[in-house]
Amino acid sequence: MQVLKQSERHRVRFTLNGERVEGLAEPRMLLTDFIRHEIGATGTHVGCEHGICGACTIRVNGKAVRACLMLAVQAEGKEIETVEGLAAKDGTLSALQAAFHRNFALQCGYCTPGFLMSLVDYLEKNPNPTEADIRIALSGNLCRCTGYAEIVNAALEAAREIQALSASK
Ligand code: FES
Ligand code: FES
Repeated sequence: MQVLKQSERHRVRFTLNGERVEGLAEPRMLLTDFIRHEIGATGTHVGCEHGICGACTIRVNGKAVRACLMLAVQAEGKEIETVEGLAAKDGTLSALQAAFHRNFALQCGYCTPGFLMSLVDYLEKNPNPTEADIRIALSGNLCRCTGYAEIVNAALEAAREIQALSASK
């Protein structure tokens, strides 16, 4: 195996959940691996590494992307959001996380960060979804445990709650 020298690694800096982070990445290092192993934020999961399962979904500059389809060096200067940024600093769950908890929308939890980040992105842009909308929005996220019904219920409940909250402001 060829070992790259330190000089062949690139410094990558970006904002992760509002905080500046930086580290060194080999040219072909995936963003998932960089976030998990170089930065140490392991909430973003890795399933297929081929853009199929959605477990690695994060947001980059406000758009949901699969971190296994991005190179770490492509994240330079970007604003990145991961599941670690959803709860409040005091640990209070976001409306979506709380709805997942109430609805038993996870079992092993491996897929959950990806579902949450896909839904954060979708509900921000589509605040009043139908069940069919949610199922289509989540069609790129795979779950081997739940059968999806509870995830869809949680998403619809969270959407109603978020709407009610913003109407009361
Ligand atoms: S690990 Fe990225 S889509 Fe499966
Ligand atoms: S909860 Fe186990 S894969 Fe979804």
